[in-house]
Order: sequence, then C-alpha cells, then structure tokens
Amino acid sequence: MSPDDLAELHALCFDFAPRPWSAGEFRSLLDSANVALLSVGGGFVLTQLLGDEAEILTIAVHPEHRRRGIAAGLLLRVHENARESGINSVFLEVSERNTGAIGLYESLGYERAGARKGYYRDRNGNRITAVVMKRDLTKGKAELLVK
Ligand SMILES: CC(C)(COP(=O)(O)OP(=O)(O)OC[C@H]1O[C@@H](n2cnc3c(N)ncnc32)[C@H](O)[C@@H]1OP(=O)(O)O)[C@@H](O)C(=O)NCCC(=O)NCCS
Repeated sequence: MSPDDLAELHALCFDFAPRPWSAGEFRSLLDSANVALLSVGGGFVLTQLLGDEAEILTIAVHPEHRRRGIAAGLLLRVHENARESGINSVFLEVSERNTGAIGLYESLGYERAGARKGYYRDRNGNRITAVVMKRDLTKGKAELLVK
C-alpha cells in the first residue's frame, strides 16, 4: 500500500482519538529503518522495533472487511516476525473507549500493562486515557494462523 492508500484507510478508521495521519506522516514513518509495514487487502499494521521490543504504531481494517480475522492475522504475522528477530514482547496503546480493539488484543494474549491518562482527546476536547497493553512473546506456544 502507498502512503496515500494508508492515509485514506487510516482516515476511514480513526477520527479524533487518535487523529488521522497524513500521507506525509506515513511516508516519513516508512522511511524509518526500524518501522515495518504489513498489509493485506483491506487492512494494514505498522510496527516499530525498539531494541528487544516491538510497538504496534497503528492497525486498521476497512469497515467493510471487519470481523473476518484480518487484524488477528496481521498481528499473528507480526508476532511471528518478531520472534524470528529475537524480540521478546510487543506493546501498544489503545483508547480505553475502544472496546473492540481491546477485545482483539485480549483474544491474542495481550495484557494490560499500564495507562496513560489524557493521551488522546475526543472531538469535544475531553481527555481520554490510553491503556498500554503488552504481549509477552516468551509465554505460551507460538500461535498458528487459523483464518
Ligand atoms: C480493531 C480492528 C483493527 C479489528 O479488525 P478486524 O479485522 O475486524 O478484527 P478481527 O476480525 O481480526 O477480530 C478478531 C477478534 O477480535 C475481537 N474483535 C475484533 N473487533 C471487535 C469488535 N468491534 N468488538 C468486539 N470484539 C472485537 C473478536 O474477538 C474477534 O473475533 P471474532 O470475530 O471471532 O469474535 C478494526 O475494527 C479497526 O480497524 N478499527 C478501527 C481502527 C482501530 O480501532 N484500530 C486499533 C487502534 S489501537
């Protein structure tokens, strides 16, 4: 997917918390040596490598393609690639209001590891807490792609 495609899909999936990222922002991220993009028809995930950890910077699936296992499949590939690179854990921030995404992460073994108060703002300017979630890749067996 090109930076324009990524920005278009991101804008469809996010409004204020977090705000949509521009094509220029995606271009600079993709230019970073430690940022990796995985995409399939209908969705993508952007990951940043930080020492022996990986951070999910963003994940988005087109509204017409949801609940078909696309996000879970992308995250399982991220876990697999991370393990192969000797990375022990994956973390991310998610709005405490985003119960769908939290359900996705919990279904893949992520656990709540903290909170960042006021990390996002909603369209009325109200502060929203981000939940920090972490997947310990050394725990449990490697997952299988089932969808
Ligand atoms: C969150 C998001 C990436 C999920 O993508 P998806 O491809 O629909 O997710 P999957 O089909 O892989 O879901 C796998 C499991 O996660 C859970 N899940 C996913 N979306 C859910 C929702 N809206 N509500 C409750 N559980 C959900 C379910 O357990 C689901 O399994 P099931 O469908 O068998 O019940 C997608 O809804 C999206 O792009 N949302 C807007 C952007 C966003 O919030 N990104 C995450 C920001 S941190």
